[in-house]
Amino acid sequence: MSTGDRAATTALLRWYVDMGADEALAPEPLNRLAADSPPQEQVPSEPAAVVAGQQAPATTLEELRAEVEGFRGCALRTDATRTVFADGNPEAGLMLIGEAPGREEDRIGLPFVGSAGKLLDQMLAAIGRDRTSAYITNVVFWRPPNNRTPTDEEMATCLPLVRTHVALVRPQAILLLGAAAARVLLGTRLGISKLRGQWREIPIEGIPPVPVLPTFHPAFLLRQPARKADAWDDLRNLKRRLDGS
Ligand code: URA
Repeated sequence: MSTGDRAATTALLRWYVDMGADEALAPEPLNRLAADSPPQEQVPSEPAAVVAGQQAPATTLEELRAEVEGFRGCALRTDATRTVFADGNPEAGLMLIGEAPGREEDRIGLPFVGSAGKLLDQMLAAIGRDRTSAYITNVVFWRPPNNRTPTDEEMATCLPLVRTHVALVRPQAILLLGAAAARVLLGTRLGISKLRGQWREIPIEGIPPVPVLPTFHPAFLLRQPARKADAWDDLRNLKRRLDGS
């Protein structure tokens, strides 16, 4: 490139930046003037309302499962193998809501089946419950790449579905597992150490406010076993509420 060409290119780039065009939107440049430009990637055709999560609300868990399976609004599903909807007994009165599926959950299609899930089963056993007497789900239905924490935006996108999930299950109480689930469902930025063990209520359309108890996530307890004593306090607190005492 000659010095003159370089100066002209630099001036053109500066003009783009001045005009506000300062972000590359795709990893590769696309010549939109070429006749054989590849077509833009198309999202599978879907009613707009489904993409926005605003179709007629599901009235049964099976309808909601189908809605989640067809939901195209959350980018996480692109990299995930399976949709992870829920496990357990929706009639149990107790709903547990975690963060996001991990590798094993993505492989099997059920929540909390990996190492954190084993500890969660022990936590349930400590209050005399198992997956026939508890209902388990997450605040996002697809595994984030490399098991990263879902972003606030990803969680916010799934939130209407999660709230419908709660409305359909109508649990007596929810155990919120970890900071991310507490953040999105309680709409707070307080850390889990501050939130844990304190009952709150979440308003859900169509049902009475639902009592919610945040506690540590079992994956955190695997890394910080010294905090299990706090988690077991929370479980006793939960059991008292469920037993009506
Ligand atoms: N961690 C979660 O928060 N959810 C799962 O389903 C598994 C691990």
